[in-house]
Amino acid sequence: MDQLKVGVFGCGAMGRGIIKNLVKGGYEVFAYDVNDQAMHSVIELGATPIYNKELIFRQVHYLFTSLPTTELVEETIAGENGALHFMSSGTYILDVSTSDVETTRRIFEQAKQKGISYFDCPLSGGPDGADKGELTIVVGGDEVQFEHISPLLRVIGKEIEYIGESGSGQVIKLCNNIVVAGIVTLLSESLLTGVKAGVPAEKIASMFQKGSAQTKVMSVFGPNLISGDHENVKFMLQHMSKDIQLYMDLAKQEKIPTFFSAMVDNFYTIAKNNGKGALDTSAVSQVLEVLTGATIVSK
Ligand SMILES: NC(=O)c1ccc[n+]([C@@H]2O[C@H](COP(=O)([O-])OP(=O)(O)OC[C@H]3O[C@@H](n4cnc5c(N)ncnc54)[C@H](O)[C@@H]3O)[C@@H](O)[C@H]2O)c1
Repeated sequence: MDQLKVGVFGCGAMGRGIIKNLVKGGYEVFAYDVNDQAMHSVIELGATPIYNKELIFRQVHYLFTSLPTTELVEETIAGENGALHFMSSGTYILDVSTSDVETTRRIFEQAKQKGISYFDCPLSGGPDGADKGELTIVVGGDEVQFEHISPLLRVIGKEIEYIGESGSGQVIKLCNNIVVAGIVTLLSESLLTGVKAGVPAEKIASMFQKGSAQTKVMSVFGPNLISGDHENVKFMLQHMSKDIQLYMDLAKQEKIPTFFSAMVDNFYTIAKNNGKGALDTSAVSQVLEVLTGATIVSK
């Protein structure tokens, strides 16, 4: 049987692991990225870089988008020379980026008109999970068509959950990320207080993990918070800030007040405006350090 052809747009931190595991899973993968270095890097993963987007759209059965903004996802799929103009009826598009809910539902409808099944499949697990093929994936879209994409998702992920209609995967992802973003700020504040009161940050963090404040957020971001090494990027602060904005849009749309999330949003916006966008999410602690005049890392 011919190999099934898959296109991947966006060969960054997440896209690379996805490509690697799709190739391992026996799919023929065509990759596209605006960054030349990213394009070259897919060759060693076993994929074929193709600079002509239309060529990819015309031949693939499945298309993944793993892009930094919702605008780029919409342009790539529904834009003037986007995928919907060239992909055949009966094909599938999987957006694994964290994207806006309303836009996701609009693209779903446009794709449906062309007989193309569009799914929101946001990911959890970071670049490491992508590399190991152990991502957690929450899926929104047509339930009947879901069975046709689940073999692919099983190649890149470990926990795959169909949630419901288009956009419902993104709803979960955005609600998840505002919680993670908020916990990082609260951990920062409590570490600042504890350290100023004379207890080392390492001790506070390790006791949190043995007690009722235990959280995966500490396991992921705690080492950076404690060491002050925010260049060790687990999840880029500008991506987190983008996800917070998307959550704020969703809350506004649903007329839910944003008491806590608005405050969290402000901290990440300040961090981004101060040039910390490319650092790890944990760098938001530096904003709290400046505002409080205290430090987590003993100097
Ligand atoms: N990094 C994580 O831990 C993580 C986890 C879950 C979800 N996500 C989401 O996944 C998406 C991708 O994240 P990432 O960390 O891989 O980002 P990244 O910045 O590492 O990679 C994005 C890639 O897209 C490329 N790109 C930009 N514009 C493009 C275009 N028009 N066409 C093709 N390629 C283009 C960039 O050159 C880059 O290589 C984001 O929406 C992010 O929020 C990331």
